Amino acid sequence: MRTHLCGNINERLDGQNVVLCGWVARARDLGGLIFIGLRDHAGVLQVIVEPENTPAFAVAERLRNEFCIRVTGTVRMRPESQWNPDMVTGKVELVADEVEILNASAPLPLLMSEEDGEEVRLRYRYLDLRRERMQKNMRLRSRLNAAIRQFLDGHDFVDTETPILTKATPEGARDYLVPSRVHPGSFFALPQSPQIFKQLLMMSGLDRYYQIARCFRDEDLRADRQPEFTQLDLEMAFVEESDVQAIAEGMIRSVFRQVLDVDLPGPFPRMSWQEAMTRYGSDKPDLRNPLELTTICDQVREVEFKVFSGPANDPDSRVAALKVPGGASLSRKQIDGYTELVAKYGAKGLAWMKVNQAGAGLDGVQSPIAKFLTGEAVSGIVQATGAGDGDLLFFGAGLKSDVAAFMGALRLQVGRDFDLVEDGWKPLWVVDFPMFEFDAEDQRYYALHHPFTAPAAADAEALLADPANAVSRGYDMVLNGAEIGGGSIRIHDPKLQQAVFDILGMDEAEARARFGFLLEALRYGCPPHGGIAFGIDRIAALMAGEDSIREVIAFPKTTTAGCPLTGAPADVDVAQLDELRLQIRKS
Ligand code: AMO
Ligand code: AMP
Repeated sequence: MRTHLCGNINERLDGQNVVLCGWVARARDLGGLIFIGLRDHAGVLQVIVEPENTPAFAVAERLRNEFCIRVTGTVRMRPESQWNPDMVTGKVELVADEVEILNASAPLPLLMSEEDGEEVRLRYRYLDLRRERMQKNMRLRSRLNAAIRQFLDGHDFVDTETPILTKATPEGARDYLVPSRVHPGSFFALPQSPQIFKQLLMMSGLDRYYQIARCFRDEDLRADRQPEFTQLDLEMAFVEESDVQAIAEGMIRSVFRQVLDVDLPGPFPRMSWQEAMTRYGSDKPDLRNPLELTTICDQVREVEFKVFSGPANDPDSRVAALKVPGGASLSRKQIDGYTELVAKYGAKGLAWMKVNQAGAGLDGVQSPIAKFLTGEAVSGIVQATGAGDGDLLFFGAGLKSDVAAFMGALRLQVGRDFDLVEDGWKPLWVVDFPMFEFDAEDQRYYALHHPFTAPAAADAEALLADPANAVSRGYDMVLNGAEIGGGSIRIHDPKLQQAVFDILGMDEAEARARFGFLLEALRYGCPPHGGIAFGIDRIAALMAGEDSIREVIAFPKTTTAGCPLTGAPADVDVAQLDELRLQIRKS
């Protein structure tokens, strides 16, 4: 139907006859001449229809935005004064000989611009995707997938599909369930990840597995979370942490080079979870932001200000300072703004101190809490944080996990507000995670990764003796403040696996009911193994410079886990429910 793509027409084709297909991006009648912006996936080209060409002109007069058309014509250079540097095709235009309407478009329900709201964009996603930005994103994602496959194929990984209709998998979110017609009252669960199957594939002797796999998790959605998302999932037999990390890092490096022509800095630094939480208040620190938290427990242990001295003397708590360079110029209103921000993350307050003269102790600072502090404490704080004249210090006090949450968020916001975030790519490995998190409300342990993650502890006895301080053999890859991948060395000893289940409050009967097939498989010569899974949506969004992963997913769900395009989830016929022996309870 066509000889060329619109976006590929350039000065070398001057004088040549071409046939193009595409959509009308705009049509303007300029005193006799009709100008059409003709768009396909490669770009937009200016088409001119002259009134002397009566049949073509008659068709062109009927054109509206997003009509699908075919144009035959001759390429010609534009006069230099009319060159458009914003268009790839800006030096040329097409003089139409023939214009054919392949399909008209109804009046458009959206602007097809950045002003369209999310709901309408998703409702008419097929139109939204025609936009240049979305075309770019979709194609970038495709190149990302291709680069991933190329690398892993070249490293002897076996691309293997695993079931979608399966049993609950243990990634800690709620399951999406699918009722079985053949087994009334029984349900499949959609996989939260292929975790168990990829471990079984290692027991099957596959040695190296990978899959670009869809995962399903019914959890609260955010900009970087979708109910169904895509992982690059991989697993390797006879490996230790460094083997998996070397492959994963090599792959990410290769993919960035191939897709973005970017050489990531290397080797990726490794940081313990403890250090990340202490210095950055986050297990996925954005190292482009140079700000760090400083622990000042030693400096405020003796002060009469209980908000500080209490946490400073409690091993589970902490007082941390964030230095804002030049922050002494902040107004009360701006400081109140930050106080409101940290309140959203659970802070009960946000003490602050402006440093006017760093060497002058109490006299050199201005702070609502100065009256509760000693000169010695102030000097100690100023020294520990390295604050200079004109800086401001924010303080967070409380349980370590609470302080990390709100001071970590504050660090990110201040970094953005003061324009401190550097350009470029800052990858790192976060390692040495705790095995378990104790939930004071439920009075039980939860696994920080999934329960198949191996502990650093030598054996089951050592693990059971001190679960609170157990460190795991898990690792996350973090890039520019996003957790793009996570994995671990797995447990391959059934006794150690049961010890983990015990700590998680799952007795043998329950463990057998849920994961019996895995426990059984562990008994037949399971090789030591480990792996990792990357969030492809997150990597694609980072590469595309998008804030939300919805911009790199062709048909994403809304933040309320619905699809405005298809109307899913939707009611089903009573007959269908009957067949499944299901009944909807009216609440
Ligand atoms: P994990 O749960 O850490 O590990 O997931 C791996 C990576 O998947 C991405 N991700 C998501 N992306 C979009 N929306 C979501 N709801 C979502 N949840 C996770 C993240 C994350 O780093 N089976 C283990 C992997 C392993 O141990 O090998 C797992 O699924 O980028
Ligand atoms: P209060 O004793 O609650 O009146 O607080 C006195 C000062 O300490 C105020 O500036 C509060 O913002 C601050 N503050 C209170 N709780 C905390 C906290 N957990 N961390 C940091 N600052 C706090």
